[in-house]
Amino acid sequence: MFQAKLHSIWPSRFTARPPQAPQAPRRRGAALVFMLGMWTLICRGEGMPQVIHPSAWPALPAAVPRDAKVEAFVDQLLRAMTLEEKVGQLVQADIASVTPEDLRNYHLGSILAGGNAAPGGNVRSSAASWLDLTDAYYRASVGGPSPAHAAIPIIFGVDAVHGHARIPGATVFPQNVGLGATHDPALIERIGRATAEEVAATGIDWTFAPTVAVVRDPRWGRSYESYSEDPQLVARYAHAMVTGLQGRVGTADFMSPGHTLVSVKHFLGDGSTIDGRDQFDSRVDESTLRDVHGAGYPAALSAGALIVMASYNGWQGTKMHANQALLTQVLKQRWSFPGFVVGDWNAQEEIPGCTKYSCPAALAAGLDMYMAPDSWKTLYANLLQQARSGQVEASRIDDAARRVLRVKVLAGQFGKPAPKDRTTRGGLAVIGSAAHRAIAREAVRKSLVLLKNNRSLLPLDPHTHVLVAGAGADDIGMQCGGWTIDWQGDHNTNADFPGGTSIYAGIRAAAEQAGGTATLDVDGNFQQRPDAAIVVFGETPYAEFEGDREHLDYSALDAHPLQILRRLRAAGIPVVSIFLSGRPLWINPELNASDAFVAAWLPGSEGGGIADLLFRPHNAGVLPTAGGAPPHGIATDFSGRLAFSWPATAMPVSYQPGGSVRGALFKRGYGLSLATHTTLAQFQEDPQVPPAQDTLFAAGHVTAPQSIYISDRTAQVRLTMQSQASPEATVTAVLRKHDLEATWSGAGRGELRIGGRAADYSAAAARGMTLRLHLRVDAPPTQPVRLGLRCEAPYGPPRTAAAALPRDWSMCGRSGGAMLDVSRRLKPATRGVWQTLEVPLACLAGKDADLAHVNAPFAIATDGALALSFDDIRLTAATAPPDCASAAP
Ligand code: BGC
Ligand code: BGC
Repeated sequence: MFQAKLHSIWPSRFTARPPQAPQAPRRRGAALVFMLGMWTLICRGEGMPQVIHPSAWPALPAAVPRDAKVEAFVDQLLRAMTLEEKVGQLVQADIASVTPEDLRNYHLGSILAGGNAAPGGNVRSSAASWLDLTDAYYRASVGGPSPAHAAIPIIFGVDAVHGHARIPGATVFPQNVGLGATHDPALIERIGRATAEEVAATGIDWTFAPTVAVVRDPRWGRSYESYSEDPQLVARYAHAMVTGLQGRVGTADFMSPGHTLVSVKHFLGDGSTIDGRDQFDSRVDESTLRDVHGAGYPAALSAGALIVMASYNGWQGTKMHANQALLTQVLKQRWSFPGFVVGDWNAQEEIPGCTKYSCPAALAAGLDMYMAPDSWKTLYANLLQQARSGQVEASRIDDAARRVLRVKVLAGQFGKPAPKDRTTRGGLAVIGSAAHRAIAREAVRKSLVLLKNNRSLLPLDPHTHVLVAGAGADDIGMQCGGWTIDWQGDHNTNADFPGGTSIYAGIRAAAEQAGGTATLDVDGNFQQRPDAAIVVFGETPYAEFEGDREHLDYSALDAHPLQILRRLRAAGIPVVSIFLSGRPLWINPELNASDAFVAAWLPGSEGGGIADLLFRPHNAGVLPTAGGAPPHGIATDFSGRLAFSWPATAMPVSYQPGGSVRGALFKRGYGLSLATHTTLAQFQEDPQVPPAQDTLFAAGHVTAPQSIYISDRTAQVRLTMQSQASPEATVTAVLRKHDLEATWSGAGRGELRIGGRAADYSAAAARGMTLRLHLRVDAPPTQPVRLGLRCEAPYGPPRTAAAALPRDWSMCGRSGGAMLDVSRRLKPATRGVWQTLEVPLACLAGKDADLAHVNAPFAIATDGALALSFDDIRLTAATAPPDCASAAP
C-alpha cells in the first residue's frame, strides 16, 4: 500500500507538479551518485561490476517464424507513422492516470491496470464494468485514425497471475508456489488456457505472467510467484503456461480468440537478489544467472512468448533496465526474440541518470515499451524531444515501434472488433465457470504436500465429528494471498469471492455428505469433544517487497496457532495442520505439535480441494473419472511433492555448486502419500537465527520488510542499490558497510524515510515507544530539519483528492504539528560527533499524528543543505518517561 498511498496522499506535491516537460535529465547529480556507488562497491571489496559475455549464451532459433505479410504490413505502417505516433507506441500508462479521452491526443501503445487500479478506482468492480472500461479505451485508441495508415489499437494489460484474480467471482488458481508441487505441466497449460479465457472475456489482451523466477532465497516477498527452486521444472512450466495463455505456436490456435499475450518476467535474476530483498542487486555469477535463473526464458520463447518484462533488480551493479548485453545481445540477438521488452512499473527511475519521467538509457539498452503508469505524459514528451534531438537513435525508436506493432499484428489486434463486440467463447459467463473451478480444485488437490502423517491419522473418517480451527479456516482471502482483488490482497473477505469455497466450507460439505459433522471455532475451543481437529493457519497476504522477511521463522510472525495446536494436543485430540504459505517456512514447533501436517501453499478460491484429500472415501466404489478429476469428496491420495527444499532452520537452505542443497529438513521431491506409513520423530525447536532486533536500520542494513525511500517534490524512489538520488537529486542516500549517508543539496525539499506497510503504532506509543537515531552531522543544516513519522489514509473506497491529503509539508496528522523540528540538535558544534536523538512516539501523537496508520515510522526532511550519517535507527522502549519538550525544542 505504501507506494500506492503515497501517490494518493501527496498529489499536490508529487503528482500535481511533475517536472515541466520536456526536461533535461539530471546528469550531474546522477553521475555523482553513480561514482559514489562505484566507490562504495570498491570500498566494500566487491570490485568492478562484472560483464555479460553474450557469446557464452546459447544461440536459439526463433519459434515464431518471420511472416513476410506481417512484416510488410508493419513496414507500411511505420513508413506512414509520424514520430509522435512511433514514440507513443513505446509508452504504457495506467488507467488511474490516463483517460480514454487522452488516447485521442496521445497514441499510446498500451494501457495497464496496476495492482490497485480498477474501473472508477473501485477494486471490487464487476467483470461487466471492466469490460465497459476496456471497451472505452479500445474505442478511443482507434477513434479518428490517421488518414495515412490503419488505426493502431492499444493492448490492455493486467496482472492475472493466478487466474483473473482481480475480478470478484473469477476463478482464483493456486499461486505458482503451489502449482510447482503438482509437477504437472499439462495441468499448468490448462490453467493458462482457462485464465486467458477469463481475461479475454473482459476485453483484456495481455497478462503480466508467467513469472519464471527461480527462487533461491524464500525470504523474498515474491517467492509465491515462483514455481520452484528447480530451473528444469520452471522451464517446463514456462513453456506450458505460455502455450496455455497464447495458444499453441505454429498452429491456428496461436493467439486465436480466448487467448492473451503473456509477459515472461522478470528478466533477469529476480529470484537471486541479495538476502532475498525485492528489486535489489543479484551477485550470482554469469553461468548461474544463465543456467539457473535464466532457465525459463528459452523455454517460454520456444513456446512463442511475444513479450518479456524487464526486471527491477540489478546484476553485479547494473540495473536490468539498463543492461544492453542482456536485453539486446542475449534476448533479442542470441535468442532471436521477435517480440518486445516491456519495462516494470516505473523501474526506469532506479537507473543512475534517469527519473521516471525521463530515461533514454533504458531504450538504448533494449527496452521497447516503458511501463510509465503515472509518469507517461512527461516521459512521452521527453522521449519525443530526445528523438527529435537525436539523443536517442532513430533506428532504436523504429526497432522498438516495429516490435510493438509486430506483436499487435501477431496477436490479431488489427482484426479484432472492440471488446464488447468480441465473441470470445461464452462471454462473461466463462468467468468463474464450473469447468474452470474444477481445474482449480484439481490443482489444489495436486498441490497439497503431506509432510507428516504419524500413526496414519489421515485419511480421517468422514462420519466423525471434526473441529475446524485457525485463522485460515474460513478466510478465502488468506487462501488467495497477494495479487488478489488488489495488489496486496490483504483486505479481502469471503464476500469478495462469490462462488469460492473456504477450506472450512469444503470440510463441512465433505463431512456432512458422509453423515459426519464439522464445527468451526477459530480459536480451537469446543463444547462437544471432537474426534479430531483440523487447524488451518499460516501467512496473511502480501505482495512484492512488503512480503520480504529477515528470516523464515513462522512462529515469530504468529505464535497463536502453536498455542492452539498444543492446547488441543494436551487435551488428547488428534491434530491435522493445514499450513497456508507463500513459501516454505521454518515450522518445526508446529510440526512437532501436529499429528499430521499438510503444506497447502496459497490454494486460491477453491478451498474444497483440501477436503478432497482429508477424508477416507465414504462411498468406496466410486472411482475417479477419466479426466483425472475424482468426484468431490472422494479421496484419492496426496500426489504433491515439494518443489522447494523445506528449511531445517529459520535461515534459507544453501545451494551448493554441484546442485546439492544444504540445510533442508525435507528435500525437494519429498511428500508422503497415504499409503506410506512413516512416523516422524520430533525435530529440534531452535530457529538458529540471531535474536530479533527492534532496528529499522543497523550495520548498513535496512530491516525487511522495511525499505529506505528518498523523495523530493517530484517523486519518491526506493533505495535498491548502493546509492540512490531523488529524482531532482535534492537528496541522495548511500549505503555503506556500517552506516547510511544522506546528503541534501539545498536545492529544494528532500526527505529520507524508512517505511513499509501501514501499521498501528498507537499502542506502542502508549507504552512509551521511542524513535531512536544514532547519527552524526557531517554538514550542519542551513534550514530547519524536521523528524517524525509518515501516515497514510486508512484503507477504504477511494477518497476524493481533496479529502485525502494533508495540505502542507506535514508528516502524520491533520495539522502540521506531527513533525518535530530537531534543528537545534544538529548545530555546527555537533559536526563529526556521533549522538543519539530520541523522539517518543507519544510526542508525535500529542501533536495530532494519526498513529493508527503509520507507513513510515522514521522520516527526516529539510529544504536546505545538510549531510548526516546514521548507523542505527530503531523503535525502542524509552529509557525515560517521554519528555516532549526536549525532544522537540
Ligand atoms: C505494483 C502495482 C501497484 C503499485 C501500487 C506496484 O509496485 O506492481 O501494480 O498498483 O505498486 O503503487
Ligand atoms: C511488478 C510486476 C507487475 C507490474 C504491474 C510491478 O510492480 O513488479 O510484476 O506486473 O508491477 O502491476
